[in-house]
Amino acid sequence: MSVPPTANQALLDWVEEVRQLCRPDDVVWCDGSEAEDRRLRQLMIASGSAIRLNEQKRPNCLLVRSDPRDVARVEKRTFICSQSKDDAGPTNNWEDPAVMKEKLHGLYEGCMTGRTMYVIPFSMGPVGSKIARIGVEITDSPYVAVNMRIMTRMGRPVLDALGADGFFVKCLHSVGSPLAAGQEDVPWPCNPDNTFITHFPEERLIMSYGSGYGGNALLGKKCLALRIASAIGRDEGWMAEHMLILGIETPDGKKSYVTAAFPSACGKTNFAMLVPPDALKDCKITTVGDDIAWIVPGPDGQPRGINPEAGWFGVAPGTSYRTNPNAMESCRKDSIFTNVALTDDGDVWWEGMTEEPPGHLISWLGEDWTPGCGKPSSHPNSRFTAPAKNCPSIDPQWENPDGVPVDAIIFGGRRMNDIPLVFETRDWNHGTFTGATLSSEQTAAAEGKVGALRRDPMAMLPFCGYHMGDYFRHWLDMGGKFGAKKPRIFHVNWFRKDGNGKFFWPGFGENLRVLLWIIGRCRGTADGRPSPLGVVPRHADLDWRGLDYPEQRFEQLMAENPVILGEQVHSNDGFFASLGEKFPAELAAEEEKNLRALA
Ligand code: OXD
Ligand code: MN
Repeated sequence: MSVPPTANQALLDWVEEVRQLCRPDDVVWCDGSEAEDRRLRQLMIASGSAIRLNEQKRPNCLLVRSDPRDVARVEKRTFICSQSKDDAGPTNNWEDPAVMKEKLHGLYEGCMTGRTMYVIPFSMGPVGSKIARIGVEITDSPYVAVNMRIMTRMGRPVLDALGADGFFVKCLHSVGSPLAAGQEDVPWPCNPDNTFITHFPEERLIMSYGSGYGGNALLGKKCLALRIASAIGRDEGWMAEHMLILGIETPDGKKSYVTAAFPSACGKTNFAMLVPPDALKDCKITTVGDDIAWIVPGPDGQPRGINPEAGWFGVAPGTSYRTNPNAMESCRKDSIFTNVALTDDGDVWWEGMTEEPPGHLISWLGEDWTPGCGKPSSHPNSRFTAPAKNCPSIDPQWENPDGVPVDAIIFGGRRMNDIPLVFETRDWNHGTFTGATLSSEQTAAAEGKVGALRRDPMAMLPFCGYHMGDYFRHWLDMGGKFGAKKPRIFHVNWFRKDGNGKFFWPGFGENLRVLLWIIGRCRGTADGRPSPLGVVPRHADLDWRGLDYPEQRFEQLMAENPVILGEQVHSNDGFFASLGEKFPAELAAEEEKNLRALA
């Protein structure tokens, strides 16, 4: 065992307790250095769990293939173990904390035998920032260690910031696959039949077992920065949200920041890294975060946002130099690819990366692949883990310890039939109602019936660490905390289709036109017309330089059908009722207002 590089007794005690429980062969305290990263990568290559990609084409990059049974977050096995079931609410799985701990204890016992236990101190947010939080992940997966080094600030500086008595969130992880003496390891050990991702919000504790993939295993992301942080934010008066943060600089040199929440498969990463179309190159978009925002009221109430992460864990398929050049540049080097295809010259490929697929690949399953073979080369949830600092559009303020000022919050969904391109909500409470009723059509990539609406309030359904009714209450309260500085709240929908099944809106870079209207509304420079939904732009209110978009088509795109929208409002009734007494009366009042406006 290496010498523990900390005097933090709580940490030393916990590491020792876990060591005795899990019985690893060895304990390594990760320092986050390049040398350590090289060593861990080499170890993964030597053990057959990673492939080094072509140094010329993808410098310092690895390809990893998971067990085909361990390819995504498993919501069915994700639990909020609050003391009271009522604190977890109807949208979370709940188990009594004592019962869950006993069950897990049995599983963790001896689970790291034959493996090395890595102790990974990490900071969510810039090290030393008052907004940042420290976690320590203990894991038996070197894959987790090298990914955590990209996704978080990790290692020595974090222990220094933690000091002798600083607080940290305990994050225990095991792939759940001990090795008997002499037993050969597999490339991706896991235990799919016994997977548990569990959260103990009162204790700020996370325990994950059985999966090595993404949010199940990189515990800083969904587990700490959303589920546990949402509970901390509720207690302390700030917000942990499933939102990107981006900056917009307009030709007059003014800069604004917005956050945006989209359910999965709505192009969130592409929006965070939007490239302005040629005619709008006098505007600049910069990226602070692509997935999670922590928003705190500054001293004057002004909301300030940080991205607690330090990397992108992006869905690979569909990402290309056409759809998202900034993401492609981010993963050009120093990145880890999971479950994508390998090209014959040692590079990676996935569906949508180029129009023409290569003539031959090795698929994510390690099999020969040729175009037309009838199978995808890459898993639909295959990923790149890329350092944020590689991103050409990274915002100069992205590591500002005080965060960036947030002027607007945007909700968005994939809605083929009903919702116009954009509307501004009437006020904070109406915006909260709009977020609370956020829904998106299912795509083939997600589980469920294609086209059916999946309810995903604030895009937080799988990520809120407590009762959704209390979460809505917290949102309403935060409006008061931000006071006069509270962000304006908008809803966008890039996915409405016309009578011929064609998307009304070209999307991608053209979304900037909508963003400019949003920013104009915040700055008091953009006009609109009143609508039953709030305020919407008329054709004349958008910047159309370089895009010939007929006024009549715009009218169709913006049309509000009161009957369909009224039905939509009512479709929330069952969900709201399921929240029982915790459903805030203010939101019932907003529902009434909406129905009156649509009548
Ligand atoms: C993600 C998700 O992977 O939201 O970011 O599922
Ligand atoms: Mn996400």
